[in-house]
Amino acid sequence: MFMRTAATFAAVVAMSAVLSTAAYAQQQDGTAAHSPIDLGKTTFAQKCSHCHGPNMVTSGTVTPDLRRFPDDQPRFVTTVKQGKNGRMPPWGDILSDDEITALWAYVSSRRAQ
Ligand code: HEC
Repeated sequence: MFMRTAATFAAVVAMSAVLSTAAYAQQQDGTAAHSPIDLGKTTFAQKCSHCHGPNMVTSGTVTPDLRRFPDDQPRFVTTVKQGKNGRMPPWGDILSDDEITALWAYVSSRRAQ
């Protein structure tokens, strides 16, 4: 009787471990696919990288090196929405606030210390 209970208990423990591992893996995947940094990275590759360099790697001579952009979100949002000096194009009508926030998350993640 005792053996049987112990075996059942062990089986239940093993089962719930498997289930929670699966749930965890699923949540991890979902989070990774929708993280702001990933969205920002995709948007950057589509809209910004031909001027600012793939993955922000640029000589920084023609366009500023965004890895050196200061930790100044309002300035970033203003420049991206309105453009700058007729050389940096305005994106306010093209990108949503969420996309610009995601770009900021991506830029911040690449900041050189
Ligand atoms: C057509 C080329 C071009 C594209 C495309 C472009 N930029 Fe720029 N960007 C520039 C240039 C040139 C400057 C420098 C402007 C200046 O300071 O005169 C600049 C400056 C900037 C700055 C610094 C502004 C500041 O306040 O110092 C940021 C941030 C920036 N760009 C972000 C972006 C983002 C994000 C995208 C994509 C949505 C993007 N850029 C797309 C050319 C581009």
